[in-house]
Amino acid sequence: MIGRLLLRILRSQYGWARPFGDFNVRWLRAVFGAMPPVADLLHGKWLGHSVHAVITDLPLGALSLTVLFDFLNQRQAADISMVVGVLGMVAAAVAGLADYSDTDDDARTAATVHGTLMVLSLLVYLVSLWLRLTAPVDADRTVAIVTQLIAYSIMLAGAYVGGELVYTLGNMVNRHAWRFGTKSEWIKLDVTDLPENKPTPAKAGAQQLVVVRSGDTVYALHAQCAHAGGPLPSGKLVDGCIECPWHGSRFDLATGRRTRGPSTFDQPRYQVRAADGGGWEVKRVLDPAGQNIASAAAPRST
Ligand code: FES
Repeated sequence: MIGRLLLRILRSQYGWARPFGDFNVRWLRAVFGAMPPVADLLHGKWLGHSVHAVITDLPLGALSLTVLFDFLNQRQAADISMVVGVLGMVAAAVAGLADYSDTDDDARTAATVHGTLMVLSLLVYLVSLWLRLTAPVDADRTVAIVTQLIAYSIMLAGAYVGGELVYTLGNMVNRHAWRFGTKSEWIKLDVTDLPENKPTPAKAGAQQLVVVRSGDTVYALHAQCAHAGGPLPSGKLVDGCIECPWHGSRFDLATGRRTRGPSTFDQPRYQVRAADGGGWEVKRVLDPAGQNIASAAAPRST
């Protein structure tokens, strides 16, 4: 019941958040599009999942301590934890902007509400910090503490929307998280023609694939981009990779490995072989643990 009420409040903000989000994403894409390595660093391509999600623990923890230290009248500890928390908020915001720049539709709108609440919280925290640092050591701190509690409440509201963004809307979540197992078998590839160097959609059982033939070598990846489900058969080929048409993630055709974000996940890959009687068969490549990770040691598709 509380969840439904909060969701209704969140949705009631979409009127202003949608156009504001569209505007923000336009300029953010121009900024991050000009420096892909920085965007990859902030997305967490090197880490294997979102950097923003990791950093957010720091301000939430530090600023929760500030509430406790204020309650205990531990002034110095409260000030230090607030400085750490504010710096953590700035770092989380920088990483979050990169993820925000590659959102669409409802995820973009919810991310706009989330980001706006966090910026508002940060500004109120700065006021509280300024009140603390400019007042005499033994001055009354009532206003600074009330201000801090307001900032903390706004931050918690922002954190709730952030959770909604990930757990309900699936932003920055691996689209293939449940698509793994410990067994894999050869399945007939349902495709009649494979033009050379052209991403071609194909089915293998219930799975939708994108298949690329380069001479005698045939590569096959899952058709749905790991980042947000973009259609890889509509993508283009760049330096042995396929580039997603939605936000530009690139995956190595031979290994499925991500070579450019925003995807922080690899793409499920399939081995391909000629089938008896003509056509092709595919088999999903599993890592030793059967997880959804492309194996560098896997043999090249033939
Ligand atoms: S869906 Fe975002 S890069 Fe493919």
